[in-house]
Amino acid sequence: MSPATDALGHPLAGPEDTAPGADVAVRFSHVSKTFAGASHDVQALRDVTLDVPVSSVQGIIGYSGAGKSTLVRMVNGLERPTSGRVWVEAQEVERLRGSGLRDLKKHTAMVFQSFNLLETRTVAANVAMPLVLDGVAVDERDARVEEVLDFVGLADRSQAHPGELSGGQKQRVGIARALVRQPPILLCDEATSALDPATTTQIVDLLDRVNREFRTTIIVVTHEMDVIKDLCDSVAVMEDGEIVESGAVLDIFNHPRHPATRRFVEGVVPSTPPASLTESGEGGDVWRLVYSGDGAGRPLLSQLVRDFHLEVNILAATVTEIRHHTVGHMVVRMSGDPGDLLRGAERLRANGVQVSAEGSRS
Ligand SMILES: Nc1ncnc2c1ncn2[C@@H]1O[C@H](COP(=O)(O)OP(=O)(O)OP(=O)(O)O)[C@@H](O)[C@H]1O
Ligand SMILES: [Mg+2]
Repeated sequence: MSPATDALGHPLAGPEDTAPGADVAVRFSHVSKTFAGASHDVQALRDVTLDVPVSSVQGIIGYSGAGKSTLVRMVNGLERPTSGRVWVEAQEVERLRGSGLRDLKKHTAMVFQSFNLLETRTVAANVAMPLVLDGVAVDERDARVEEVLDFVGLADRSQAHPGELSGGQKQRVGIARALVRQPPILLCDEATSALDPATTTQIVDLLDRVNREFRTTIIVVTHEMDVIKDLCDSVAVMEDGEIVESGAVLDIFNHPRHPATRRFVEGVVPSTPPASLTESGEGGDVWRLVYSGDGAGRPLLSQLVRDFHLEVNILAATVTEIRHHTVGHMVVRMSGDPGDLLRGAERLRANGVQVSAEGSRS
């Protein structure tokens, strides 16, 4: 469907095409970006619309080349849309010039995959850099650097050089440098992609603390669904310059719709049982059950056996921690009288279990 237009053919402004209210930190409205290439143009972003609520952690996931970095670089003005609009709080980025752009950079800090530290300077000097640029007095600068190094757990390494640090420690320095101006918005572009899984968990925990203690809005670009699961409130899945699916992380994990989303979720919640199990000629219905993981799943199933004389065969079951919620996924084969099956499904739903059919009677 083409967008509504006025008498002159200009698109009519929708609600997403105006400056956001105070509850939105970043608004992307119909953002497209084309890079002119020598042989052909590359369309890096196609009509991206997304609101990032204040103090939330927004994930952006997609494979290489999906347009994630291009999108996030529009927040601090490093890239400009070919069409569409970007607001950071009430300010439209496109309209900022000179001091307005400098203030935007202070307002939004970036953490990089490659750390981007100066090897010849100490940890403290690297972290102090933004304050030096701002002309902050030495005493205040030193106090702030000490405070922020303490926050990231590197107080005792302030005089070390980056070459003496592990990858995880280097990224802590990168995060300290990003936090030193106390920015309300933090942009992390693949901040954990160069790190091993254990170190990734530590950095994810640190970013989670930043969000909780300072109420910082964080936009996390990643290709790792584990990072989304542990850190983000919402996620946008990108493919070929488009957001193909977005929403609350818990909903996306429980009901991924787009094939790209399913592939990412599948890597973390292996909830699809082997086809040999679901397609065996045993008969019965195959149901997928999703429930909050307070252990409610299994006792309810035994009730179904008792009250409705259903036969239950568990084909797959996992419990996953998603953004501080425990979620159970189960795939079961149910056999019994059709009326009893219906009543059984009703009983589950009445107890907060989401039931969907994976396959029907064979
Ligand atoms: N400055 C540029 N000039 C030309 N093409 C570009 C430029 N920046 C990005 N692109 C192209 O735009 C598309 C999206 O790139 P982008 O870097 O945003 O992807 P990404 O999702 O961040 O990928 P990755 O996971 O590899 O970092 C790619 O096809 C890329 O080659
Ligand atoms: Mg990138």
